[in-house]
Amino acid sequence: MSRDTSLFTGRPSELVGRQVAGYRIEQEIGRGGMAVVYRARDLRLERTVALKLLAPELARNDTFRRRFTHESRAAAAIDHPHIVPVFEAGETDGILYIAMRYVAGSDLRHLLDREGPLPPATALRVAAQVASALDAAHDHGLVHRDVKPGNILVSRGTDSDHPEHVYLTDFGLTKKSLSLTGFTTVGQFVGTLDYVAPEQISGRPVDARCDVYGFACVVHETLTGHPPFRRDDDMALLWAHQYDDPPPLTRTRPDLPEQVDAVFAKALAKSPEDRYPSCLAFVTALRNATTGRAAGGYAPTHVDLHVPDPADDRPKPPPRWAAPVFGGGV
Ligand SMILES: Nc1ncnc2c1ncn2[C@@H]1O[C@H](COP(=O)(O)OP(=O)(O)O)[C@@H](O)[C@H]1O
Ligand SMILES: [Mg+2]
Repeated sequence: MSRDTSLFTGRPSELVGRQVAGYRIEQEIGRGGMAVVYRARDLRLERTVALKLLAPELARNDTFRRRFTHESRAAAAIDHPHIVPVFEAGETDGILYIAMRYVAGSDLRHLLDREGPLPPATALRVAAQVASALDAAHDHGLVHRDVKPGNILVSRGTDSDHPEHVYLTDFGLTKKSLSLTGFTTVGQFVGTLDYVAPEQISGRPVDARCDVYGFACVVHETLTGHPPFRRDDDMALLWAHQYDDPPPLTRTRPDLPEQVDAVFAKALAKSPEDRYPSCLAFVTALRNATTGRAAGGYAPTHVDLHVPDPADDRPKPPPRWAAPVFGGGV
């Protein structure tokens, strides 16, 4: 085994206890198609981190290396409560690595596998947090490209009003972004096709709206337990993303109002121009649809409900309880 691959291909237990670039590896916490993630100890700062070691073949790919450097810097520059902070990104022994905040909890993939579809209120809370992270990234000119449940980490929230705190991770770290179709040169697909936007498949330029599409697929899954398109093989699935209408979500969740279907139809539009302009716009529309509010509306506040007496034209101070009451929008 050559020296430059030993870090990655070794059995997980072989790396436990070893030091990699200033981090002592404690335990494997997850494995994707192109990386292994460990809980590790940052020996300089004496703190626990998540250390991601990327597959050695990625370090040998110049396009990926450039993107890795660029996107790691860009992601590290975003200081957002729902984006996993990146502490360091570098290379050691031919392996690209990223040290980031260790998020105790579960990723959304495991959560859905364990618990099935989430109650609408929970799904909306999770969605709003992911949406704010994606929109912040888009404001920084960053497109995620791989929005999927495995890249959404769910940890314990701060209080009963915020029962979970959700983080988005892995910006641009997808092999899919290396090739337009998501297939490697040998024709083998890497990763899941469940959340891939039509323009990613056809090789058109992608922007923030490709994340709106992927995100809508994820939210669909949190509400129904499955992504909008399910097909027997990859080619059929690629075709469905490009040409088939998504089945109405209320077919699986008849308890939700029918307006929800229109919201998903728009978020999953084949053409990016026809989608919501931002992820939060989608979540707001979804929230309004699930609660049966008028499109674009928000929960009426005490201020809205304060109907003045038309006969009384004296100027009035706002009622004392009005001050801390804000709109109920997302
Ligand atoms: N910062 C982190 N803190 C805790 N666990 C993490 C962190 N980053 C990733 N993980 C875990 O490691 C798993 C594997 O990550 P990854 O290699 O990116 O694969 P994928 O995203 O395909 O699931 C994730 O699904 C998640 O459970
Ligand atoms: Mg990931």
